[in-house]
Amino acid sequence: MNKIAIVGSGFIGRAWAITFARAGFEVALCDSAAEATEAALAFIDDVLPFLADNDLLNGQTPKVVRGRVKAAPSIAAAVDGADHVQENAPERLDVKKALFTELDRLARPDAVLASSSSAILPSLISEHLAGRHRVCVCHPINPPHLVPAVEVVPAPWTSPETMSRATELMRAAGQKPIVMKRELDGFVMNRMQGAVLEEAFRLVADGYVDPEDVDIGLRDGLALRWSFMGPFETIDLNAPGGVVDYVARYQQIYARITPTQARRVDWAGPVLEVVLKDRRARLPEDKLVERQLWRDRRLMALMAHKRKAAREIGE
Ligand SMILES: NC(=O)c1ccc[n+]([C@@H]2O[C@H](COP(=O)([O-])OP(=O)(O)OC[C@H]3O[C@@H](n4cnc5c(N)ncnc54)[C@H](O)[C@@H]3O)[C@@H](O)[C@H]2O)c1
Repeated sequence: MNKIAIVGSGFIGRAWAITFARAGFEVALCDSAAEATEAALAFIDDVLPFLADNDLLNGQTPKVVRGRVKAAPSIAAAVDGADHVQENAPERLDVKKALFTELDRLARPDAVLASSSSAILPSLISEHLAGRHRVCVCHPINPPHLVPAVEVVPAPWTSPETMSRATELMRAAGQKPIVMKRELDGFVMNRMQGAVLEEAFRLVADGYVDPEDVDIGLRDGLALRWSFMGPFETIDLNAPGGVVDYVARYQQIYARITPTQARRVDWAGPVLEVVLKDRRARLPEDKLVERQLWRDRRLMALMAHKRKAAREIGE
């Protein structure tokens, strides 16, 4: 496997390009808007030195990694000879269906066609295609060059070979694949994130805490552990006798509160004014882009730390 085609070069496409190029693949970037490809290349030029500073280029120079990324003038040119196509167009079913029709026609017959879709089921994107057995979703977390988890999701007709090739590619690119056995609305990560967000909006809407308190609870609380272990390992370590002991001691708390979490709060209702007021007091709207760059710098530092700690303390 040598060449990856990136179709759609916005937030996610440009980050995939870094991820694959860093792992040694040739990357062809394309977009329906030529200026988007140019902007992606400029972004990559800006980010690579920071990644090198944080030892996140696997010992390679920015120049070497950058040399593997090229802009392609069309989708046909991008997918020509590609072993894997990663689609990152806007999250609209009509756009994805039309695009995959084209990709199925243009790509090599043995190329895997993967969508970065956040929530559109792979069956909806691919049901009409002759080559639907080679379509799956590879859903990253933004930005994939800093966050390794990626959901590999099959449609009912996706072949086992497509799944194993997509999964192996993700591993080869340094990602951590979550291999779903069958598709499900929201996949895995958005279902978990959705559960947290639902509770966050409900707690603020019901007047128990301010938005910042919810953020403290995650940022300075639960997420400190969650940044290096998941909820199952967390509970296994949180009772003297491990997971069985945890369940015996604490399940009743969750059994009691879970029924009170079934009621939805409309995120666009009055609670949004509370959240917006709090957020804009902490971060003026014209500072959003600057803060996104800050977030990525913090993520780089966190990834560098996690790698170092895993080496020195152990996984
Ligand atoms: N942003 C995120 O946090 C995030 C995370 C995971 C997955 N995703 C998914 O990734 C995909 C892309 O999202 P994004 O945030 O990069 O959006 P974006 O708006 O930043 O980029 C989309 C790009 O696709 C291009 N495009 C539009 N139609 C096209 C076509 N027919 N062919 C080729 N290119 C086309 C646009 O010009 C644009 O550059 C979506 O499916 C989204 O749900 C986004």
